[in-house]
Amino acid sequence: MKKIIFIICLGINIFNRCYSDEGMWQPYLLSQINLDHMIDLGFQLTKDDIYSINNNSLKDAIVHFNGGCTASIISNRGLLLTNHHCGYSQIQANSSIENNLLENGFSAKNLNEELPNENLYVSIVKYVKDVTNEVNFQINDNNLNEKNVIDSIINKEIKNTNYDAIIKPFYKGNQYYLFVYEKFYDIRLVNAPPSSIGKFGSDTDNWVWPRHTGDYTIFRIYVNQENKPAKYSKENIPLKTDNFLKISTQGFEENDFAMVYGFPGSTNEYLPSCAVEHLKELNEYRIEIRKNLLNVIDFYMKKSDQIKLNYASKYASISNYYKKWKGENLGIFKSNAIQNKIRFEKLLMDSLKIYENYQNYDIINKYDSLYNELRIYSFLRSTFIEKVYRGVDFFAFTNNISKKILGNESDSNLISITNNHFNSYSKEIDKDLFIKLILPMVGKNNHKLIFDDEIFELSKNQNYDFEKGWNYGENKNNYSNISNEKEFDSLKDFKYTVKYNFLNIYPFIDNKKLFNVENIFEKSIFTDRGKILKLINNKNKAKVEKIIKNDKAYILTKYLFDFYFTKISPKYWDIFDQISELDKKYIKLLMDIFPNKNYYPDANGTLRLSYGEIKTMKPRDAVTYNYITYLDGMIEKYIPDDYEFDLPQKILNIHKHKNYGKYAIKNKLPLCFISTNHTTGGNSGSPVLNSKGHLIGLNFDRLWEGTMSDVNFDPKLCRNIMVDIRFILFMIDNYFDSKNLINELEIFD
Ligand code: ARG
Ligand code: GLU
Repeated sequence: MKKIIFIICLGINIFNRCYSDEGMWQPYLLSQINLDHMIDLGFQLTKDDIYSINNNSLKDAIVHFNGGCTASIISNRGLLLTNHHCGYSQIQANSSIENNLLENGFSAKNLNEELPNENLYVSIVKYVKDVTNEVNFQINDNNLNEKNVIDSIINKEIKNTNYDAIIKPFYKGNQYYLFVYEKFYDIRLVNAPPSSIGKFGSDTDNWVWPRHTGDYTIFRIYVNQENKPAKYSKENIPLKTDNFLKISTQGFEENDFAMVYGFPGSTNEYLPSCAVEHLKELNEYRIEIRKNLLNVIDFYMKKSDQIKLNYASKYASISNYYKKWKGENLGIFKSNAIQNKIRFEKLLMDSLKIYENYQNYDIINKYDSLYNELRIYSFLRSTFIEKVYRGVDFFAFTNNISKKILGNESDSNLISITNNHFNSYSKEIDKDLFIKLILPMVGKNNHKLIFDDEIFELSKNQNYDFEKGWNYGENKNNYSNISNEKEFDSLKDFKYTVKYNFLNIYPFIDNKKLFNVENIFEKSIFTDRGKILKLINNKNKAKVEKIIKNDKAYILTKYLFDFYFTKISPKYWDIFDQISELDKKYIKLLMDIFPNKNYYPDANGTLRLSYGEIKTMKPRDAVTYNYITYLDGMIEKYIPDDYEFDLPQKILNIHKHKNYGKYAIKNKLPLCFISTNHTTGGNSGSPVLNSKGHLIGLNFDRLWEGTMSDVNFDPKLCRNIMVDIRFILFMIDNYFDSKNLINELEIFD
């Protein structure tokens, strides 16, 4: 009995966090517990103001941006607010060296100047339905597989409509919800700050507080004359809508209520300890690979402006999670996540013996053995993804384009894929990446066989370690030394490189010419735009096939992809599926044993609400993070001509004369702020609303120390980072002088 009481207390203790600001809630299912808590924190609206099917509600202004980020509608003519980093590749695509919108910023002075974007779409949730019973019935009683069941329910739902739909599992497949969306395809770029503001502090400041990044961009939704979604056309007009967010410039103070409404991508809050341990190790491995990748790209970006422009997006996306994983591991360590979970699991398992239907329940040991099995495949999978799939660029391109050329793709598509790829491709960088990431994969004993002599010589002269691969030594740069934190200890002792390189485990050395750098980079057609375009023009199918099949880059690519997809991926997913079955049982068990806890499902790319308070944070002894930053802090960080901390002269002038219009408080212009909202990737671009539902900020990041909130939210360490709406308005109004846009907004001063 004592034990039961203890475990219940422990459960409450561990879950206690849920009565703090943890949780990404389904806005259509807000419980009284949530509402009471929100009201406690200051919330002044009703449940129906947040989500309603029959009446207009905030949800109608919340937009899923290109399937990844979030955005919100902020005017009755379809203006869309999201992050600079969410619209980054669109700004990049509209830029050239002569007219560099990334560098100079951009503001359309009228509708004619707004810039179309190929393949960009946004979607808005129309309604949501619980389809758990229907899905389960079909799977269990009719013995159908999950995918077919889901497809058929979706088809039935959207037949004869112009809507799109998805069904997503919740609580690891214990529930299913159907989401019906309206999708818009003509989305134009309207306003973007110069990158020096929108990406100020770039990678050094990414995930870091104090922060001074003006990370916003504005697009607009266009529709046809009937106000309905349509593909891009000159004749399209701005969306007319009543569902847009009203803006407040009244500001906030510490402890004020804030909520984030958006589409968080993925979290794993109910993992067993061994899974968190596995994640920690995998992070260490991926961090090491990415460090090498980034070092190479960084080296070339610093040498050339053209390369800096072409590789900006790729670099930013690799470095983002490289740094996040470091913070995540630090947070796992600081919050004692693994030990706490182990302790909880021991007690849980012990006390289960008392429950009749849980006799001999062995779920934690089963988890242990499955994660043990998964480990090697998980590392090998990361090797493939990090090095082959997204590391060295020619692999993914070769795989894609060769299949399409051999298939029936139209010439125009082939040409556009080819141009897209080569517009941001450098053979020089790719070759270097290949040498440094792929060649070491062939293993110690095989080097001599496979390296061409030149590379072998190079490896002797440079800092090459056969066990560890290319070692850049203490090559100090911005990316290895994060925000003055000590490098996380375990990273120093790097032990995985050789062991988990699959070429090392399954040597493939029968054709040593394949790894010959010359064969791939100088003789192959796949590293040369002209040669590919010529091949696309060649109408002799047999000849084309022969050329492709004899190409060394193609043969190597095919080998690596086939190897991954036949030997690694099926094994990985097989074990992963078994783990998923346990996950489903585990969360059901927790719900059985602790029925009074208010559970929230893991993020899964669907609409969620998190709420909390604007709050300072204490990361270390004697250090306090204030909850707000100002333009003054940006100017303090300014370093002329620096790669990351340079600023446009215009903002320096404005600061000098304090010309902030009506957006300043006490002569200071607010820039960013932090709060205790539980957010994750995908929440970028999410509107941040005050207790009245008015827009006060734009979510774009989290504090480094708290990124483990994806697996273990700790209210002491976790904060999300937002741009203050007053800074965004200042940019539009004062920096760009775009009265045409300001006049569209509904602002409460
Ligand atoms: N860390 C934020 C997010 O996860 C911002 C990323 C912007 N990219 C960058 N490399 N600074 O998306
Ligand atoms: N920057 C992230 C995004 O693109 C949000 C930061 C986070 O992971 O919380 O969604």
